[in-house]
Amino acid sequence: MAKILVTGAAGFIGSHTTDCLLGEGHAVVGVDNFRTGRKENLATALRSPAFALHVKDVAAPGVLAALVAAERPDAIIHLAALVSVQESIANPELNFSLNVQASQLVAEAARLHGVGRVVFASSAAIYGDAAERPIRESAEKRPVSPYGAAKLASEDLLLGHGACYGFTVRCQRYFNVFGTRQDPASPYSGVISIFARNYREGKPVTLFGDGRQTRDFIAVRDVARANALAATRPGLTSGAANICTGRATSLLDLAGIFAAAHPGVGAPVHRPARAGDILHSLGDPAAAAALGFTARTGVAEGLAELISEPPVPVLP
Ligand code: UD1
Repeated sequence: MAKILVTGAAGFIGSHTTDCLLGEGHAVVGVDNFRTGRKENLATALRSPAFALHVKDVAAPGVLAALVAAERPDAIIHLAALVSVQESIANPELNFSLNVQASQLVAEAARLHGVGRVVFASSAAIYGDAAERPIRESAEKRPVSPYGAAKLASEDLLLGHGACYGFTVRCQRYFNVFGTRQDPASPYSGVISIFARNYREGKPVTLFGDGRQTRDFIAVRDVARANALAATRPGLTSGAANICTGRATSLLDLAGIFAAAHPGVGAPVHRPARAGDILHSLGDPAAAAALGFTARTGVAEGLAELISEPPVPVLP
């Protein structure tokens, strides 16, 4: 059993990662400032004696180092972040603070207190408009947003510190993650969370463009398992891996699955393609497979679960 410190534990990916680690018998120290994370997401974890929650801001200097000094975790999974690409474009300074400076604070906490491993929430956004398909980890990195640039900078910061001070760093390059607890509130939220809410409420969805664009959608439960493995599997060395399925799903396919489950809802409304929208994004999962991770949940299965699951209730 290991003790894992999870930053952003109340978020979409953080809460599923926490649940996965607890389910595997590990102890979890969760940290979240509830900026975008929600206590509701931790309803299961909070019932576990192996879980402790600290409501703190890891981007504030000294906070994480003090916590790591007190808790002495075996590994840190750093998921706390500004998670919206659009918000990073609107507020690049905040993006720098939350998505670059906070990573430096993680590296520093690991160095000062001898943490053996750091797992970092990177993103397919570091590839930007890379022409290669499927995208391998060696593809040219051409981020096209402050968000993508910050994730790439953080990978380098953490890997460089790990190599110098002797801790392992695993950078997890998530593709399009979907599942329960994803916030559908903004128009820039993940398309599946928006579709799930609209269909549940009986409202037609919007398809930007002809709907033939494709993404590599990965279920959050698989992502959580990939994070737990990266944090706890003995013998891993530093590096980066795509966290993806290697399978492409079009927007039309997605809408078709939802429509079949909600026969009363009107047909999707077509709108012009979003400016800057990429047509196809597909990852190569081979590197993660070599480390022992393969996604298990298909899109249809994951969507069926999402459709049948009631929205997360609000805690008192
Ligand atoms: C992701 C980011 C986006 C960023 C882009 C490039 C998320 C949630 N979005 O977009 O902010 O600019 O990477 O790095 O991480 N769509 C619809 N109808 C909707 C919503 C979306 O048709 O109601 C379409 C979009 O136009 C897009 C596809 O669905 O073609 C997927 O959209 P989204 O879930 O936002 O992901 P990315 O496009 O990959």
